[in-house]
Amino acid sequence: MTRNYIRELNHPIYELVGEVAEGMGLVAYAVGGVVRDIFLNRRSKDIDIVVVGSGIALAKAVAKRLSPHLKVNVYKNFGTAQFVYDGVMVEFVGARKESYSHDSRKPVVEDGTLADDLSRRDFTVNALAVALNGPDKGALVDAFHGVDDMADKILRTPLDPDITFSDDPLRMLRAVRFASQLKFSIAPETYEAIRRNAPRLEIISMERITEEMNKILLSSQPSIGLKLLDDSGLLVQFLPELSALKGVESVNGQKHKDNFLHTLEVVDKIAMNTDNLYLVWAALLHDIAKPKTKRFDEKVGWTFHGHEFLGSKMVPTIFRRLKLPCTEKMKYVQKLVGLHLRPQALVDDNITDSAVRRLLFEAGDDVDDLMLLCEADITSKNAAKVKRYLDNFALVRQKFVEIEEKDKIRNWRPPIDGELIMKTFGLRPSRDVGVIKDAICNAILDGECENTYEAAYALMLQKGEELGLRVQEISDPAVSETANDVD
Ligand code: CTP
Repeated sequence: MTRNYIRELNHPIYELVGEVAEGMGLVAYAVGGVVRDIFLNRRSKDIDIVVVGSGIALAKAVAKRLSPHLKVNVYKNFGTAQFVYDGVMVEFVGARKESYSHDSRKPVVEDGTLADDLSRRDFTVNALAVALNGPDKGALVDAFHGVDDMADKILRTPLDPDITFSDDPLRMLRAVRFASQLKFSIAPETYEAIRRNAPRLEIISMERITEEMNKILLSSQPSIGLKLLDDSGLLVQFLPELSALKGVESVNGQKHKDNFLHTLEVVDKIAMNTDNLYLVWAALLHDIAKPKTKRFDEKVGWTFHGHEFLGSKMVPTIFRRLKLPCTEKMKYVQKLVGLHLRPQALVDDNITDSAVRRLLFEAGDDVDDLMLLCEADITSKNAAKVKRYLDNFALVRQKFVEIEEKDKIRNWRPPIDGELIMKTFGLRPSRDVGVIKDAICNAILDGECENTYEAAYALMLQKGEELGLRVQEISDPAVSETANDVD
């Protein structure tokens, strides 16, 4: 008995699409990722249908059968139409001779056969189709040996790779992304073409590039993709700061580690333990300022002083360029990059209560993510060293729990804010307001001032006097607002 692939596609919509296409005298096929994923035992999110004829007409007819109210989005220029049914995006396209890129400025002009259509797709493993009606209903169309390539775990373009990549240069990045997600290798001639055509990435929108980059970072072993990105010449097109981490320099026989390979190790460890994309971004960028801060000191060897501060400052530039969200998510990455050396500094200072409080205050609810990053940052090959570092971090974690239980620092805010300082001394927003605010915050975190409105108010007056400020308005210290006791 021949294998019926429609059954394996495992969704009721395929039978319906076949039936509607049959009624219209057309032949429809399931195509692309959904067919590939039958062989990979994955579940795909989106459904792609290709039809020899009008994809838009078929989409409208199928939608009508599903519900009279189903909204169909039509993209006339591309000859495509799509709707969301039961949470799944279903996209219809008429078979054509042109490229599939939505970024391509080229209008779709020529209708084509199924073979034309499949040949203009990105990889042989994505150029598979299943007939949904007609005499071959249920059969697999595999004109480019995609099934063999799948068995060999290889990514290869159906046509000459120079043509496939010039149709849509994003496909070079997709090759790397699939290699990383599926642990497939890229065929040598396809890879050579990527190296040759890498500069063509410049015509692709940053949003599409970043979407692929995010998928690489969320794969189980991002280092596979990141190494390929760098080696192929793609990475330097959009994230040259990362490529700049590469290499080892030696002075007087003293070497520093290769910060690119170190970063990749940290990213892999983090990716294994989280599905938080921005934690992986923090891992990727944690040492990003090392090339800019690198110095050689005769006495101590290689240093990267302040790379965490400068790195944190580089994050917004990178986020803006990559069109990543410049929101709380970016601030989170900045925070983790900026604080990533602090837990180790705590250990070096014998873990004092005030230093623990300070770090808890600065890290807030992200303190557990910070510790994950710091633990992943240990990439020494010396097992005894690794154990010592991890044991120390376990102590730090324990101390965080103890202090948090006692002092509730994670979401703490000092009892006096800038507003009150300005009102009291009749100030506009200025440096003095910050000085007083920081002095109060630091004194409480260091245990030198009680965490009460009254004590903070008294300290505010004292600091104001030291700065030569005159009290304009007295607020009643008896009206206490917050009071998490910190001793
Ligand atoms: N495709 C292509 N070139 C692109 C993007 C897509 O040829 N630049 C084709 C491929 O045949 C692909 C199909 O369109 O299989 C669907 O694309 P998409 O949904 O983006 O990717 P999937 O292969 O389904 O994989 P994923 O869902 O993981 O992105």
